[in-house]
Amino acid sequence: MKIIHFTSLSVAAFTASIQLCAAADAIKPTQAEFVMKASFMDRGQAKVDRLNQDETQRLCSQYPEKRPPEVARRIEALNMKLMKYPADGKLLGDWKEGEKIAQSGVGKQFSDNPALPAGGNCYACHQLTKVEISFGNIGPSLYNYGKLRGNTEPIQKYTYGKIYNAEAYSACTNMPRFGHSGILTEEQIKHVTALLLDPNSPVNN
Ligand code: HEC
Repeated sequence: MKIIHFTSLSVAAFTASIQLCAAADAIKPTQAEFVMKASFMDRGQAKVDRLNQDETQRLCSQYPEKRPPEVARRIEALNMKLMKYPADGKLLGDWKEGEKIAQSGVGKQFSDNPALPAGGNCYACHQLTKVEISFGNIGPSLYNYGKLRGNTEPIQKYTYGKIYNAEAYSACTNMPRFGHSGILTEEQIKHVTALLLDPNSPVNN
C-alpha cells in the first residue's frame, strides 16, 4: 500500500489539487475538508477550524471556473448583507497609520502574538506608491487611486467596503476580507482608506 505523507505537501499545492478534484467532481468540498482536517493540527492561534468554509468559500470551491452569473450575484449579495460601516459615520483615518498597516505582513500566523494588531500586507498584491518599489501584482496598481476616483462620499463608502469585504463587489476575488474576517479593526480600515483617498497621501502624489 502506498503511504502518502501529507506533511510533505505544501498547503497551496494541496489546495490546488483539491480544487482540481472538486472541478472534476471527483471529490466534493466536504470530503476535501475532511482530508485537509485529517492532515493538519492546531498550532497557536492557527487552528484547524480555519478550514471550515462559509457559504461564500464553499460556492467558490464548488465553481472554481465557469461560475454561473447567478452564483456570483448570490455571493456578492450575501457578503453585502454582512457589511458593517463605522457607527460614527467617519470612513477616513490617518493615512500615515494606513501606510504602516499596508506595509505590515504580520499577524494571524501561529508564531504571531494574537494580542498585537495584524497588518494588511497590501503591498504583497498591490502597487500603492512610487516610494515603495517592492510590491506584488496579484491585484491592480492602486497608485493615484484617489486622484483618479476623487474623494466623494460614494467613493469613500466603496473603498472602505471593498477593504472590509471584497467579496461584496467581486465574487471569489483573491483579496482577503479584512474586516469581515477580523484581520483588521474598524480603525485600521479607516487608516488604510485614508491612505488610498487622502490627497496628501503618497498614493496620490
Ligand atoms: C492576496 C492579494 C491581495 C491583498 C493582500 C490585498 N488585495 Fe486588494 N485586491 C486584490 C485583487 C486580486 C483585486 C482585484 C479583484 C477585486 O476587485 O477584488 C483587488 C482589488 C482591490 C481594490 C479595488 C480596486 C478598484 O479598482 O476598484 C482596492 C481598493 C484594494 N484591492 C485595496 C486593498 C488594500 C487597501 C489592501 C490592504 C489592506 C489590499 N487591497 C490587499 C488582491 C489583494
